[in-house]
Amino acid sequence: MKVSIIGGGGLVGSSAAFALQCGGLVREIALLDVNQELAAGHALDLLHGAPSVADQVIVSGGYEHVPSSDVVCITAGLRRQPNESRLDLINRNTDLFLSILEQVGKAGLKEGAIVVVVSNPVDILTYVAADRLKLPASRVIGLGTQLDTIRFRALIAQAMNLAPTQVDALILGEHGDSMVPIWSNATVNGLPLDKFPGWTPPLASELFTRTKGSGAEVIKRKGGAGFAVGIAIRDVIDAIVLDSRRILPVSTVQDGKCYGIRDVAISVPTVVGRSGAVARLEIELWPKELQGMRNSANVLRQTLVTVLDRVGRVGR
Ligand code: 2OP
Repeated sequence: MKVSIIGGGGLVGSSAAFALQCGGLVREIALLDVNQELAAGHALDLLHGAPSVADQVIVSGGYEHVPSSDVVCITAGLRRQPNESRLDLINRNTDLFLSILEQVGKAGLKEGAIVVVVSNPVDILTYVAADRLKLPASRVIGLGTQLDTIRFRALIAQAMNLAPTQVDALILGEHGDSMVPIWSNATVNGLPLDKFPGWTPPLASELFTRTKGSGAEVIKRKGGAGFAVGIAIRDVIDAIVLDSRRILPVSTVQDGKCYGIRDVAISVPTVVGRSGAVARLEIELWPKELQGMRNSANVLRQTLVTVLDRVGRVGR
């Protein structure tokens, strides 16, 4: 399997490449970036580590890599300031994103290739990518709340002194300010999280607030997220490569079958495999969680309508 990372010179793209290298599952990783020298530098640095990790081809270059890629991951884009929301980025990032899509379209995607969108605001740009590339919803996957979900699990584990891999707690909805914590199904190795000693509603709300602000906290402290977002990207790409049908909270264009949400890309529990988002699941939620999901969809729809009014809709 070959993965091309557009924005491979940046912190997010290069972290994703490193995570994929450490995972050792993909055969080829291509780093594409307007800053070709930077992408070439990252590719060389990764290549130097190959003998101790896996037999992979690691290259840099341009859109000529797209037609032979099984997964095209778009991470390119401007980063927000700590006090900006992801939706605030829309004006600055849409035109750049549209030009990337145009070049991807011109280069031509391999049959069955999956596009993974990471650039922000990810839910809006996932919709735009599916529309512009005229791809079915199943083949365009936004990283969505997979990143928020692993942050949430990590922070819960740290606060409760639990093993992070055993904490299961989802975030769904917008990858942004209206994200929704799914407390109704939070467990630790199958045991209800809210029955654990030390668990209290104020702690729950503190952990969710910190999760929601995690992107901004990392931007403030080190300029931008890299490692965890790279790992979250690897979670999605591994599920595609292995055809593992893992259920991940990723963003796809909705058709009304989950929580009545349509005409917007948003994260719901999604089965991810070789053909992309092979199914979306409507699992029963608490009424306030359901309300949160609908609110998230409305927030996203308002921005999406403005964007589509400006750039037009190609339509599938
Ligand atoms: C974050 O750090 C990349 O949106 C991104 O949350």
